[in-house]
Amino acid sequence: MTGVLGSLQGKTAVITGGASGIGLAMAQQFGSQGMNLVIADVEQGALEIAMAQLEAEGFSCCAMQCDVSDQKAVEALADFSYDAFGAVHVLCNNAGVVHRDLAWEASIESWEWVLGVDLWGPIYGVHAFVPRMIASGEPGHVVNTASTAGVVAFPGIASYDVAKQGVVALSEVLLADAMAEKLPIRVSVLCPGVVRTKIGVSERNRPGGVKGDAFGEEGLITATEAIEPEAVAQAVLRAINDGTFWIMTHPRYVDLVKTRAEGMLTGAMPPIPHPI
Ligand SMILES: NC(=O)c1ccc[n+]([C@@H]2O[C@H](COP(=O)([O-])OP(=O)(O)OC[C@H]3O[C@@H](n4cnc5c(N)ncnc54)[C@H](O)[C@@H]3O)[C@@H](O)[C@H]2O)c1
Repeated sequence: MTGVLGSLQGKTAVITGGASGIGLAMAQQFGSQGMNLVIADVEQGALEIAMAQLEAEGFSCCAMQCDVSDQKAVEALADFSYDAFGAVHVLCNNAGVVHRDLAWEASIESWEWVLGVDLWGPIYGVHAFVPRMIASGEPGHVVNTASTAGVVAFPGIASYDVAKQGVVALSEVLLADAMAEKLPIRVSVLCPGVVRTKIGVSERNRPGGVKGDAFGEEGLITATEAIEPEAVAQAVLRAINDGTFWIMTHPRYVDLVKTRAEGMLTGAMPPIPHPI
């Protein structure tokens, strides 16, 4: 399959969680292709710094503070994006947080926070943007950021596993519906392993204050398998150009996926990955 967008020059990308990590790297990657950028993030200070950085790089860019777990805020982001650039061609539902707890110990408030950002965020994004993308008659591509936790359940991060497996399902059905309706909309689901970002200190954005960071400042970025966000952003750009659905940045997890799929056929236990 090939992508539907053709040249990205002058087209528009909206990126949630665009002030940091993978989101900011995607903005830079898209900007270097001549795209207009809308970055959205809940963290106002980081958003201003990212915006200044993107402008300094000469990109056509605007920014809006937006909590993706708030449906009205995501609808407002769509209004803002269409007002700014008249069209949206690439939607990256990327904002995310992680919380560490055993499945039976996580508070309901923690479940609600993680599912609110990581699963409802992409649902609200699809709901607010995709009908307008279709109505425009122009081709579009949606990139939903899941995780390897979206395809294999990692111990110790139950709410994240559930949210990200939901993001994979949302992405699959979005593609299936678009193909069934013969629409020029394509979908990719991004499933990275560890990437050097600030995800380990997600609780900085938790309403009501930090409840205990999942991994701490160093916990993930020093992991031996950690890759740079720029490499992830390059993989996303390739997927948009090629129309690729699965973006798996860490080949070793593909083996776990195979084991899991085989288990469905044979009745064997799912693989238990090493805790992150
Ligand atoms: N870093 C990794 O190892 C890794 C691995 C797999 C998947 N991911 C996913 O990648 C995505 C990007 O995360 P990252 O690793 O770049 O981390 P990051 O913390 O550097 O970036 C996440 C961004 O999301 C923003 N955000 C948090 N809550 C928000 C909300 N309610 N509304 C809007 N924005 C909000 C943060 O302010 C931040 O800018 C997430 O969905 C994450 O789950 C990360």
